[in-house]
Amino acid sequence: MSADLEPSVKPVIIPPVITIDGPSGSGKGTIAHRLALKFGFHVLDSGALYRLLALAAQQHGVQTHNEAALQVLAAHLDAQFQDNNGEAMLILEGEDVTQSIRSEEIGAAASKIAALPTVREALLQRQHAFRETPGLVADGRDMGTVVFPDASLKIFLTASAEARAERRYKQLLEKGFAASLPAILADIQARDLRDSQRTVSPLKPAQEAIVLDSTALGIEAVLAAVIEAAKTKTNLQEFLVKS
Ligand code: C5P
Repeated sequence: MSADLEPSVKPVIIPPVITIDGPSGSGKGTIAHRLALKFGFHVLDSGALYRLLALAAQQHGVQTHNEAALQVLAAHLDAQFQDNNGEAMLILEGEDVTQSIRSEEIGAAASKIAALPTVREALLQRQHAFRETPGLVADGRDMGTVVFPDASLKIFLTASAEARAERRYKQLLEKGFAASLPAILADIQARDLRDSQRTVSPLKPAQEAIVLDSTALGIEAVLAAVIEAAKTKTNLQEFLVKS
């Protein structure tokens, strides 16, 4: 058979993924967005999905322990991530909820419902759908361990609970929310405990993850360390935009 007659088989290109896991307030979101800009990749803020579900549950009067109802709500979650001049705008049932999902109350409810196995399962497909060309930076708790186990680069970003509480406190004040530092610290410690001790997808570094501590390093140094690590991965090198 001549070369022209051979059926053309297009290679399936699987977009590369960089995962950034770690506890709340470790700087994952900032690092994920900066990396996405640097590589020209999409971003998945998986915590926002759990927050959207927590808000939907609150609006529909579904309790955080009602697993069966939450599973149905998760499977039919009417939520969109839209781009608003480079910032993510989150829409729930047609309403802009970008700010309201960031409250401490919704964060705590998200952490409770995130411990339910069938809820996590129901959100899995939706998270995989973010993996589009040219690539994805996925931010969460179980991105490297469960959702994208074949990621090219896995980062686990941590920081002391005190440093994270301080950052969160400043963020909330800047956004115009009322905030109490001791209450935020207690909430962060409770959430860390719940996230790391749950039986499904507990918060823990993937075996091959690079663990970085932003208390000691600061965001710029973390970013530089991640970029250095990415340079060693052949399927990421080509996307590094010089700047
Ligand atoms: O990251 P963020 O604080 O927005 O996440 C809210 C909550 O959602 C977390 O406390 C965690 O319990 C849950 N979550 C999760 N798995 C993810 C992302 C978030 O369990 N991949």
